[in-house]
Amino acid sequence: METDAHPSLWQQSAPDIPTDRFPDAERVDVAIIGGGITGLVTALLFARSGKRVAVLEARRLGDGTTGRTTAKVSRLQGTQSDHVRSRNIAAVARAYAESQAAAFDWLLGFCDEAGIPVERRDAFSYATTRDGRARVEAEYRAARAVGIPVELVARVDLPFATTGAVRLADQAQLDPMALVAALVEAIRAAGGLVVDGVRVRAVHASSPAELLTSSGPMDADRVVLATGAPILDRGLYFAKVTAQRSYAAAWRVAEDQRPHGMFLDVEQPTRSVRTSGPLLLTGGFGHPVGRRSSPRAAADELAAWTAVHWPGAEPVAEWSAQDHVAPHGVPYVGWLPRGRGRIYLATGFSKWGMTNGVATALTLVSDILGADGGWEPTPWQRVLHRRPTLPQTVADGVGQNAAVALWYAKGWLGALARPVGGSPLEGMGEVGRDGFRPAAVSTVDGTTRELCAICPHLGAIVTWNDFELSWDCPAHGSRFAPDGSVLEGPARRPMRNLGG
Ligand SMILES: Cc1cc2nc3c(=O)[nH]c(=O)nc-3n(C[C@H](O)[C@H](O)[C@H](O)COP(=O)(O)OP(=O)(O)OC[C@H]3O[C@@H](n4cnc5c(N)ncnc54)[C@H](O)[C@@H]3O)c2cc1C
Ligand code: FES
Repeated sequence: METDAHPSLWQQSAPDIPTDRFPDAERVDVAIIGGGITGLVTALLFARSGKRVAVLEARRLGDGTTGRTTAKVSRLQGTQSDHVRSRNIAAVARAYAESQAAAFDWLLGFCDEAGIPVERRDAFSYATTRDGRARVEAEYRAARAVGIPVELVARVDLPFATTGAVRLADQAQLDPMALVAALVEAIRAAGGLVVDGVRVRAVHASSPAELLTSSGPMDADRVVLATGAPILDRGLYFAKVTAQRSYAAAWRVAEDQRPHGMFLDVEQPTRSVRTSGPLLLTGGFGHPVGRRSSPRAAADELAAWTAVHWPGAEPVAEWSAQDHVAPHGVPYVGWLPRGRGRIYLATGFSKWGMTNGVATALTLVSDILGADGGWEPTPWQRVLHRRPTLPQTVADGVGQNAAVALWYAKGWLGALARPVGGSPLEGMGEVGRDGFRPAAVSTVDGTTRELCAICPHLGAIVTWNDFELSWDCPAHGSRFAPDGSVLEGPARRPMRNLGG
């Protein structure tokens, strides 16, 4: 099965997760595509409501962002309250905060029921400059305005000078793979099917909906796309979000070097700090997928920053992951246009999917089962569904699409400007012209492969990721293994092989 070069700390110690065989000729009430937190919580809620559900996961469970997150479960989310308030009307900002509180309570309730260890920690959004201090104060005001009981603090438990922070007491951190395993067990105990290693290639909005998968067809009354970037192009949601890649690392440090709390910088590049048992976890240094010339350099910057502030820290794991950022800070959730009310999606969690994955799962179940099924929509769900788009968000979207257009042009011009050379060095890849075709050539584990450099999603030119050893698309964030197989969507098809 396709893997990233760097497994996360959680994936390295994940338990074996028992799954089901792909069912022959079975019709389910709800087919859920994607075995991350969003798909699994959605499946569990449906299964416990008496529906026949099947989760279809292309890779191994948790192999998407959920198994590679930093897994802070927090209602204080960097500067998210201020961001959401500045891009939405006040009622939406308040509803967003309520959605996070509901998700937080649901998730911690599930962890308690399933016996998943959860470490309760205060969350901090901190600054290191005067400008950053202003952002801290803005976040404080915005969070207070929506009822989050934050406070301003002058000092935080970090080994460098800060200019202030917002604090929210008693948030949580956990091991996301333990969560994935427990969710799968609970779904199966409630009669649901969980199948991994099966990629959904197409969904027809017929009656019932028909899914075409790498293991065969499946019929479903309803289909939920919980695939990060939606794998269907209807509604163009893949273009409404930006795929952002960030880096994470785990370190062994002395006991007195371990900070007590979960920390996030309010400035760029974002830096994240938490602990996990005896380990320190640092993260950040993000960028749009496929648009940094050397992702390895970003991982090295994270390591260098950690070494300065935690001298002697011994590396245990380093990895990267991506999430989808919505311009207004509020996830997209609900039915997909032209899906005839049969296909639903959830995306755009802006790196806060531990709560947003759960909040959107709660919304999807309420959308589909409704009051008659015991899922009367809550006030926050009603408000978020009616969220108006403000001019600032439209402007952000225009800027986002202009950047994508620029990367299309840059990729094609660059690819056609020079011929591909011989075999790249081990771990490297390059894009160039082979005859008149844009070619992507890489060498990994001693094998040189030549693929067509055109992303099979919508035709941008991929770039080489020298950290995860993958081809990454700068347009909408699809990623491919060196042999061209899909690692992350929205692409559903592999890159084409040009080699002999
Ligand atoms: C570095 C990093 C740190 C983060 N830290 C935090 C944090 O501290 N707190 C927080 O709240 N959030 C955090 N997030 C965000 C959070 O981890 C994500 O929002 C969340 O995990 C997304 O979950 P998901 O289920 O929607 O997507 P995923 O976990 O990506 O699951 C989607 C699944 O769909 C599968 N799939 C895709 N296409 C197909 C197909 N065609 N057929 C079948 N399956 C398919 C994929 O293989 C994948 O497993 C972080 C994100 C990143 C990148
Ligand atoms: S992901 Fe859309 S063109 Fe590559």
